[in-house]
Amino acid sequence: MSSAPFLVAPLDAAHDRTVFNSGSEPLDRYLREVVTQDIRRRVTACFIALADGQRIAGYYTLASASLFLADLPATTAKKLPRYPTVPVVRMGRLAVDQAFKGQGLGGALLADALDRATHSEIAAYALMVDAKDEAAAAFYRHHGFIALPGLSLTLFLPLATAIASRKTDNKRFSPI
Ligand SMILES: CC(C)(COP(=O)(O)OP(=O)(O)OC[C@H]1O[C@@H](n2cnc3c(N)ncnc32)[C@H](O)[C@@H]1OP(=O)(O)O)[C@@H](O)C(=O)NCCC(=O)NCCS
Repeated sequence: MSSAPFLVAPLDAAHDRTVFNSGSEPLDRYLREVVTQDIRRRVTACFIALADGQRIAGYYTLASASLFLADLPATTAKKLPRYPTVPVVRMGRLAVDQAFKGQGLGGALLADALDRATHSEIAAYALMVDAKDEAAAAFYRHHGFIALPGLSLTLFLPLATAIASRKTDNKRFSPI
């Protein structure tokens, strides 16, 4: 949408990470002090939402990962091949600056991550997330993620489900 106030882009050195304030010090510190090393070592990718073309309003990280087939719910596992692990994309972190909370940006960044995972040429079964606490897990459940049995803070959304829900319910993950 042309009136969209946010632009999503890969993080680069020109972006000012010092003023970002999500209310979660570990997530803010990670963006400030650690993420550029992780990008350089090719263990994570980081995408930011920019307000006014320059201020970081939110960010998330993506990396390759895998889940043990045995950890998935039985109803999911039985539809998958009997390999020990299932390839997934991991969204390690997601945070929105307090000044921009409650405006749909968190949901839009989640949609952006699902789009990138879906359109990758490298196959992945699902987007998985590590929620930092029960409130974060509730945010992901609200968006259709399913917790692993016995691991309530590790959740996944099959990419086929995300594609199907984008087709039938465009409002669910609104564009940025
Ligand atoms: C969780 C977080 C990313 C949400 O971002 P946000 O921009 O405020 O959320 P949105 O405005 O996009 O909300 C989208 C939807 O999720 C819902 N939602 C937001 N937080 C929720 C929560 N904790 N539990 C359940 N639903 C939640 C909203 O009500 C909204 O619902 P709707 O689309 O039906 O109206 C943000 O609050 C944040 O950065 N928190 C601190 C860090 C954090 O917890 N990160 C999570 C990963 S570890």
